[in-house]
Amino acid sequence: MRLRSAGLIAAVAALTVGALLWRPSGSASTFAPREPILATPLRVAFETGLDSLIVALDSLQATTAGNDRSRSLAAFRSTRTDYKRVEGLVEYFAPGVAGFLNGPLPDDDGDAPPRPLGAPAAFQRVEVALAGDVPMAGGSTPRGPLKVDVVAMRRVVVTLRAEMQFISVGELEMLDAARLEIARVTTLGLAGVDAGASDNALSESAEALEGMRSLIRTEAATAPDNASRERWAAIDTTLGNAATQLRQEHRFDHLDRLTFIAQFAAPASLAVARMRVTLARRAPPRRRVWRDDAPSVFDTGALDASAYAPEYAPSANPALIALGRRLFFDPRLSGPKTRSCVSCHDPAKAFTDGQARAHTLTASGQATARNTPTLWNSAFQPLLFADERAGSLEEQVALVLASQAEMQSSAQLAASRLREDASYRAEFARALWGRPDSVVTELSVRVALAAYVRSLAAFNSRFDRAARGDTTALSPRERAGFTLFMGKARCGSCHFAPLFNGTMPPTFTTSEPEIIGVRQRVMARDAILDSDPGRAGVDHIELHRFAFKVPTLRNIALTAPYMHNGAFTTLEQVVDFYNRGGGVGLRAPRPVLTLSAQPLHLTDQERRALVAFLRALTDTVVAPPTRPSVASRLPRDRSVAET
Ligand code: HEC
Ligand code: HEC
Repeated sequence: MRLRSAGLIAAVAALTVGALLWRPSGSASTFAPREPILATPLRVAFETGLDSLIVALDSLQATTAGNDRSRSLAAFRSTRTDYKRVEGLVEYFAPGVAGFLNGPLPDDDGDAPPRPLGAPAAFQRVEVALAGDVPMAGGSTPRGPLKVDVVAMRRVVVTLRAEMQFISVGELEMLDAARLEIARVTTLGLAGVDAGASDNALSESAEALEGMRSLIRTEAATAPDNASRERWAAIDTTLGNAATQLRQEHRFDHLDRLTFIAQFAAPASLAVARMRVTLARRAPPRRRVWRDDAPSVFDTGALDASAYAPEYAPSANPALIALGRRLFFDPRLSGPKTRSCVSCHDPAKAFTDGQARAHTLTASGQATARNTPTLWNSAFQPLLFADERAGSLEEQVALVLASQAEMQSSAQLAASRLREDASYRAEFARALWGRPDSVVTELSVRVALAAYVRSLAAFNSRFDRAARGDTTALSPRERAGFTLFMGKARCGSCHFAPLFNGTMPPTFTTSEPEIIGVRQRVMARDAILDSDPGRAGVDHIELHRFAFKVPTLRNIALTAPYMHNGAFTTLEQVVDFYNRGGGVGLRAPRPVLTLSAQPLHLTDQERRALVAFLRALTDTVVAPPTRPSVASRLPRDRSVAET
């Protein structure tokens, strides 16, 4: 329930259905002649679910033509329920369709006009139109858009339904989809990311789990032996328990999120993983952020930063990381040899510098444009910098070295200096042995620094331990703080668990910048918006003015001051800002925020709990490079799919 501001309820970008359909790797292009594939019971079950959704959309269309708003709302709710029941497979086979129906919207293709950030997807638009304070009959608004939306939704679902005849839906696909859906529910569903104004987030998440469960039953019916029947039964039971818990504790603000994650979602994820590992030999090797052999996204070692590395980057090894670390501390990398990366990214401050903005190298020594961010877990982002202008750490390093304000150097200059040093030559050769770039080149400087930054992964905070089931890891107040974070305070709808940044689970491949309206200074009477254009400074799209990447909140207790301009000095100030509705009260220019302007109405006690939770996200110890600990919980006799 991102509760987008009304200004964002804008026109639908015309999306072609073809562009929305994504077909699993290995299948032919949409235009090649194709042979229908024999239906499996699973596919039939999925198709039946899509048929129900089409029927529901028909009746929604019929009721919205009339004047009875409560009937329309009831029809809407049952359409959402039907969608939620097939969501797992729609997301799996056609993420573009899922995005169109339920967000996040697929990327604009080049020709379409840019749409506002956070523009609501079809379901959310329809709900707003239905629930909004607008006359249903006669009036010109907003029944036009409403009808257009419902028609478009139907068309997209019908096309997907027709497309299914070419798609194979087997056990492995279904288990993969179930694994992703459980993660989607625990990270996005519990945060109300896609729920509309009606606050049904938790019961809808229960439906999503029930939908997967009924597919599991379809498959269980064909189990060849007792052992596999037992494994299917375990999934059935654990999913059922999780769904029941969500229905029982359905009040959005109240559900204890950690209990759900550790005691209900984790067993279901593990049951799916146990079944999946018996089929895993058939799984094609994949490079994914969330490792295939980690049942849950909250498990130790579940997320793998190397999935973000560009193709040309060598796989990291201890020698390469050690070399990168040496470079990170070496002032010879900067033009005047006076500063290194560590001058601004101090490990003692979680790789920040404690200043609102760092000092530049320019003669006047004025401040850099932005606040220095933490490097802990910074590799887990598809795009880097507050304006998302770098696509990889390798690229980012080149930009920092070349920046006049930061290093006044270049990767080439750094390489030519280091080449003079025999110990560096030896170390580069050792770290990159056997590669053409094992000499000191600008590329090897970049990949070594990037490998070091990528090694800064720390996922063992007290919060992580609590999510893995340690009930003593957090105090009751901190646990309540997490529930507030995901629930009443809405933080988790932008800072997604488990990274607590804008990288969206469960695929961890996209991140959308947001406009929250940070001021120049945090003084009560000073309501002037910070003038940094944010994302618009890079893509020159006016709708993206003042939009910034959602930064991680891990180690936030160590990284004050906060925001791109360092305007906030304490977490209490930050929470106060959100509690009042973000950029409300700003004088011109007043951007259209993607943050709801509604105050959160947090009590003093709740604000303290929220801050206490944020402080439990501290961990600055690199985890030893091991397989996910959960692999040991899986049957040993089977080989686990390698990523
Ligand atoms: C003058 C201080 C300074 C120095 C020196 C510096 N950085 Fe930074 N770094 C920053 C600032 C400020 C930003 C944020 C800039 C922005 O968002 O536009 C940043 C951003 C980054 C990011 C992106 C993080 C994210 O979450 O988007 C990485 C990675 C990084 N720096 C690594 C390095 C490395 C590696 C070096 C050395 C080669 C280095 N920095 C040197 C100040 C510095
Ligand atoms: C609409 C999306 C959105 C929501 C909801 C949201 N945030 Fe943020 N948050 C952001 C963005 C974007 C930034 C970076 C803004 C900037 O740099 O100007 C940010 C920055 C922060 C920072 C500063 C991080 C740093 O390293 O400087 C903190 C702390 C924070 N948010 C906490 C919260 C809390 C607590 C909540 C819930 C009360 C919350 N956020 C809700 C989008 C959001």
